[in-house]
Amino acid sequence: MSNIPSPCFVCEEELLERNLLILDRVQKESGAKILLALKGFALWSSFDLVKQYLQGCCASGLNEAKLAHEEFGKEVHTYSPAYKDDDFEEIAKISHHIVFNSFAQWQKYKTKVTFNNSCGLRVNPEYSSVEVDLYNPCGAYSRLGITRSEFKPELLDGIEGLHFHALCEQNVDALEGVLDAFIEKFGEFIPKMRWINFGGGHHITRIDYDVNRLIEVIKEFKSKYPMVEVYLEPGEAVGWQTGYLEATVLDIVHNKIDIAILDTSAEAHMPDTLAMPYRPMVRTSGLVDEKKYNYRLGGNTCLAGDIIGDYSFDKKLEVGQRIIFEDMIHYTMVKTTTFNGINLPSIAIKRKDGTIDVIKNFGYEDYKMRLS
Ligand SMILES: Cc1ncc(COP(=O)(O)O)c(C=O)c1O
Repeated sequence: MSNIPSPCFVCEEELLERNLLILDRVQKESGAKILLALKGFALWSSFDLVKQYLQGCCASGLNEAKLAHEEFGKEVHTYSPAYKDDDFEEIAKISHHIVFNSFAQWQKYKTKVTFNNSCGLRVNPEYSSVEVDLYNPCGAYSRLGITRSEFKPELLDGIEGLHFHALCEQNVDALEGVLDAFIEKFGEFIPKMRWINFGGGHHITRIDYDVNRLIEVIKEFKSKYPMVEVYLEPGEAVGWQTGYLEATVLDIVHNKIDIAILDTSAEAHMPDTLAMPYRPMVRTSGLVDEKKYNYRLGGNTCLAGDIIGDYSFDKKLEVGQRIIFEDMIHYTMVKTTTFNGINLPSIAIKRKDGTIDVIKNFGYEDYKMRLS
């Protein structure tokens, strides 16, 4: 029996460092700088480790920029689909790069940026091989990034960089396609820039990712545009397969099939399982009928569709038994809610010596604090 609280996210330091070493190799061999995308991985208790390897963070707005500034302390690059007047002054104070999503936003905030801000524009290369619309930044009518037909070269004064983000969990061949489209559409402006940001979605730490080819692609780009700094800002690749969510069976009910009700929730704790949707891996389980006992795993909220998936096990599940959902650190942890008043999962870090430090527990106050 595990003695950590349940449910609990457990991030394994050794696995995190393994990813960071791969990313660092890319930086060292290609000359690109890699930022952590906080939207995908914001376990700030691990930043002492992460900042040994990565150059800084990319933030989606004021709160992430503040977290980057306070807890990471290196470069802060902020991009938001639209900035708010109330936030901008502080964003400008703590950000090194600020990326605008439209010329209108650039014109609006141009006079409010400081001497320390290097400003850029997000462009839409209108090329993407992302298949799920929900995750396709270059899909039809995308609001993210300026298309070539809307691009206004006459307003580039003061712009030092271009940013594109067009990938989602993809290999380097997808980046090559995007890069060709980006160069075809915006290539004439690249020599005028100080930096180009290739965005996120590079699944660099996945076992089949062609890291050598990525290094070559970046080097080819840099040899074509030698004065330009290249940035990558992956989130998922940092937290990819670095830990799990441990939960407990609270009850087993029967309605033609056996259904285990857990103290976690697809809706509140693993929303991507419903949004994407996908079926998370459960340690020691199999597909339906692969092992002797089939169970549907369901969450502890009143949402009928709060179903994590169907699995089989060698032995009957028992009340009190722990269930381990694999690879639950990237995105999952940042997307949790207290829907139904359900507690947020605790957060723990498994150290390299095998000890598990529980660094955060949540309770009623966290639920109440979000409401009024
Ligand atoms: C602008 C931008 N940069 C970086 C990322 C991180 O992408 P990923 O976590 O897939 O690497 C995202 C993800 O949505 C993004 O929108």
